[in-house]
Order: sequence, then structure tokens, then C-alpha cells
Amino acid sequence: MTADQMPLRESDWTVPVYAQLPVEPIRGDGVYIETRDGRRILGLYGGHAVACLGYGHPGLLDALRTQAETLLFQSNAVPMAVRAEACRALAAFAPEGLNRVFLVNSGAEANEAAIKLARLYGHQRGIQNPAIVVMENAFHGRTMATLSASGNRKIQAGFEPLVSYHRA
Ligand SMILES: Cc1ncc(COP(=O)(O)O)c(C=O)c1O
Repeated sequence: MTADQMPLRESDWTVPVYAQLPVEPIRGDGVYIETRDGRRILGLYGGHAVACLGYGHPGLLDALRTQAETLLFQSNAVPMAVRAEACRALAAFAPEGLNRVFLVNSGAEANEAAIKLARLYGHQRGIQNPAIVVMENAFHGRTMATLSASGNRKIQAGFEPLVSYHRA
């Protein structure tokens, strides 16, 4: 087999941040995943909940196509009715009293926002250095604030100084 014919390996082209599992999903169909080596696996994970409707759900595909054809993206510096609609739907689904949405792109950003919100809340109540309780060996993302909140020394090593969550 020549180099051209070798299957492309993601790990040859990406920074080695993730320890990947020995399974390569190539296609999804409803609740099933097809792998490069021909297995059909029941997918109970839902692609980080991105695919929680299943793979290839016709309603989702329609909505994605319609929006991509209409207007792919605009900054949140401008208002968009479609975003308003999505936020209203999320708020309707959330527990009572949670009626505003902060849209982010990743789990780390969501956790960063939660950390910032906790500090803001503390400051607004006159607490000078609000402490944030973090768990040993938790994982909250790869940004500085979320990495610092992990308590897992192994994944923090080399990135010091970390964000401090202790009272000064
Ligand atoms: C519990 C938990 N928090 C936060 C994250 C970070 O999410 P993201 O990779 O979308 O930034 C993850 C990702 O695996 C996670 O499992």
C-alpha cells in the first residue's frame, strides 16, 4: 500500500490532546453508529448530546438545511429572530425563573460563564474574593479557568500559574 492509499489518521494531523478510543465511527443512522471496521454499534452517548435526536433525524436535517440556505451565521452583535426563537424554546424548557439564555460554543465556555457568574454574584453582595468550591479529579474543560477548577494535577501540569479559586 502506498502512502496515498493509507487511510487518513486523525492523530497524524492533530495536536495530541485527546487519548482516543480504538474505534472509528464513520456514519450514524438513528441510534446506531457504523465503524470503519464494519461494526454496527448501539450509540447510547449521543455525540456529547449534540446528536440526542439520533443520527440523521429528518426534522433536524430540514432545520439545518433551511437555516444554512437562509443565513448561515451572524454575530450576536446583531439581533436574529431565529436565535430569539431558540432562546425562547430553551427558556420554556428550563425550570421556572430561568428565563434568559447565554449562548456558547462549548462546555468549557459554559463552565467559564458559571465561574464568572458566581464571582459576579459574590461581588455584587459585597464579598471581596468569592471562593468557588471545586472537586478533586473533576473535568470541566480545557480553558485556563476550567482546567484550574479540575483539581486533577496531571492535566494541570505545565500550565501553571493556574486560576486561583481560594480566598486571598
Ligand atoms: C463534565 C464536562 N465538563 C466540561 C467539558 C468540556 O466541554 P467542551 O469540550 O465542549 O469544552 C466536558 C467535555 O468532555 C465534560 O465532560
